[in-house]
Amino acid sequence: MSTIRAVIRGCGHYLPERVVPNAEFAATLDTSDDWIVSRSGIERRHFAAEGEYTSDLATHAARRALDSSGITPDQIDAVVVATSTPDFTFPAVATQVQAALGIRQGFAFDIQAVCAGFVFALANANGLILGGQAKRVLVIGAETFSRIMDWTDRGTCVLFGDGAGAVVLEAVESDGTSDDRGILGVDLNSDGQYRELLYVDGGVSRSGTAGVLKMQGREVFRHAVEKLAQTATTALDRAGLGAGDVDWVVPHQANLRIIRGTAQKLGVPMEKVVVTVQDHGNTSAASIPLALSVAAARGQFQPGDCIVTEAIGGGLSWGAVVLRW
Ligand code: UT7
Repeated sequence: MSTIRAVIRGCGHYLPERVVPNAEFAATLDTSDDWIVSRSGIERRHFAAEGEYTSDLATHAARRALDSSGITPDQIDAVVVATSTPDFTFPAVATQVQAALGIRQGFAFDIQAVCAGFVFALANANGLILGGQAKRVLVIGAETFSRIMDWTDRGTCVLFGDGAGAVVLEAVESDGTSDDRGILGVDLNSDGQYRELLYVDGGVSRSGTAGVLKMQGREVFRHAVEKLAQTATTALDRAGLGAGDVDWVVPHQANLRIIRGTAQKLGVPMEKVVVTVQDHGNTSAASIPLALSVAAARGQFQPGDCIVTEAIGGGLSWGAVVLRW
């Protein structure tokens, strides 16, 4: 039975110029390159410059995604930005990106599901396309987590980075089988009882400040592998596919040990897993579109490849999207 699928037409990413190696933290904190690499896999990350904001990162990534898709700004019906570090409390970063790209039609809004934000944004954009609300959607993950770090907390400030990634989705008439290109399966979850494991201790209504990130890393880790493997399996199942059909996993890039553990639990070998955490650190909602775009630029994906994206973050919120390239 013929159906509409949301197909990725192009992708792009942007990283701020400043690269911060692990050694820089050892100068001011009781930490070491050895500890950071062995516990997280992170070797370096990028930090935005003074005067460089989330909407700037998002706009650069979006321009590159549009260029690679051959789709022009006047053809975009919706802009969706996943972020937890917006320039302003309001309006949405997405409206600023819309303006910067000269898009005057359609609508734009932000999604806040922290590190799972891009998966939630992709799923929502897919829903807009399947529901006939939009034909072409720009979906962006963009963050400046360096702005919400506690620089005295070695358990968190060495882990996060800034960046942005974007994809252009387009509605395509398809056969309605699991061989179709585009988004084939989605699974989203949240469980708000775990707020204290990972949160920011300020906000508009509560403190009137932006706050800083607090994380019980070991506890988040404990939830991560099991929930990520489970959500990826559910999304694959909904797509009518199994682990044996997977060509690539593009996981949220928080910790190499979580990435490895999840791949093992899923039964997918590490040769099929895109890993960028060593170069970007944890860029929250930006990490999956960044990894996707880096892998695409390396020529790793072939048309028709089955790709699984999965992420978990504050909330807790977690989810997966299965798509065919
Ligand atoms: O993206 C959103 C989701 N977030 C995540 O997925 C993050 C999940 N968690 C993690 O990635 C890991 O838990 C961490 C990388 C944050 C920490 O690794 P860990 O193996 O769980 O270490 P730990 O928190 O159990 O800490 C072990 C030790 C502690 O010392 P004691 O209590 O054993 O004496 C920490 O104080 O390591 C200490 N430690 C550090 N030592 C040197 C914590 N941070 C550092 C540091 N340098 N930067």
